[in-house]
Amino acid sequence: MKSRYLLLPFLALTLTACGEVDPNSPQGQRQAIFKQMLKVSEDLGGMLRGRIPFKTEEFGAGAKQLDRLTRTPWQHFPQVREEGGESRAKDEVWQRQERFRQLAREMEASTAALVDASAAVPLQRADLAAPMQRVEDSCKACHEEFRAF
Ligand code: HEC
Repeated sequence: MKSRYLLLPFLALTLTACGEVDPNSPQGQRQAIFKQMLKVSEDLGGMLRGRIPFKTEEFGAGAKQLDRLTRTPWQHFPQVREEGGESRAKDEVWQRQERFRQLAREMEASTAALVDASAAVPLQRADLAAPMQRVEDSCKACHEEFRAF
């Protein structure tokens, strides 16, 4: 939670600079969180694939940060779809809320499992591959069903 609030002023600047979505709107808030999730998960994946150096502490901290983040976008999908903006959310998000929530819960479970896996010190990259794959699959599954492109 804390990190999100620290981040918002910065994002507000970058977003308004491009004349985009109001950062305080539900859409602006969830998009900002998703961007953070992408950044953190790319760093974690990069550490496992050798793109960036693997460091036990950084991996563990990143996993925890991602787990905190994955609990937060869903509250910024209002009960009724907001008008306007540049949302990539499909109408299905509102038509099939049960399924959307189910995939959100799977996302949260996958990052919780990644936190558990990264508590086993000393960390072995090989042991983290499967839990990280589950996290990435969770992102993908929801995007395929509920994101326009
Ligand atoms: C339960 C569904 C769901 C899950 C799980 C999910 N996303 Fe998304 N994501 C969406 C939807 C819907 C949008 C479109 C939001 C909008 O534009 O209103 C989106 C948008 C995004 C965006 C674009 C944000 C922008 O700038 O407009 C990124 C990046 C993103 N998601 C990354 C991720 C990553 C990384 C994960 C996994 C760690 C993830 N998402 C998991 C549903 C999901």
